[in-house]
Amino acid sequence: MKTAVPPSPVGLASNDEAALLDLLESLKQKHGFVPREVSDEVSRLVEVKLERLRRIQSQLDTTIRRDVQQHVAHWRDEEGNLIMILHAIQNQHGYVPREVAMELSRELGVKLARIYEVITFYHYFKLQPPGVHSIQVCHGTACYLKGSGELISELRTQLGIAEGETTPDRQVHFDTVRCIGCCGMAPALVVDGRTCGHVKPSEIAGHLADLKTRKEVAA
Ligand code: FES
Repeated sequence: MKTAVPPSPVGLASNDEAALLDLLESLKQKHGFVPREVSDEVSRLVEVKLERLRRIQSQLDTTIRRDVQQHVAHWRDEEGNLIMILHAIQNQHGYVPREVAMELSRELGVKLARIYEVITFYHYFKLQPPGVHSIQVCHGTACYLKGSGELISELRTQLGIAEGETTPDRQVHFDTVRCIGCCGMAPALVVDGRTCGHVKPSEIAGHLADLKTRKEVAA
């Protein structure tokens, strides 16, 4: 029995992977195979996309190399320059991307393992991109005595993540910090840089709802 030739996906936007995959799946289910002219067209679209990715990657590599060279040149003769350079990188990106750490390793002639040793030793450095919003619970002595542990538990439950983590949609980063100098307001939170004092666990939902509103306004 002759199988009807299915329509070509030429009309698909090259960035519409979901539609492309749906089309391939429906063709496979309908005909039991993907016709040659369709698979050729898909290969062409994939090749175009790969070429664009290679170009973007190459531009990124150049930018990363240039930025790292500038940081290294700035701090080259300073003692303890690795930490200063890592600070500069984190200030620039909000975290220390792996590809930047690799470039730094090459440029400084320091083993990558040593760079990661420093990054993971200091709580300040991050290996993941930060969330759009941040919530920090002060866990210094005064806040601890006034119940910061309950705020931490409430945030863990409501966000579904542990301290030091970012929600999967990368909207909220949750962390704990040591005394933020507002012990008279214990227990205290810092929400997107704004300090909130005398916080009760029952108020956590309201703070998170505020963040959501800000997210919707920003969207
Ligand atoms: S201990 Fe929390 S502000 Fe000082």
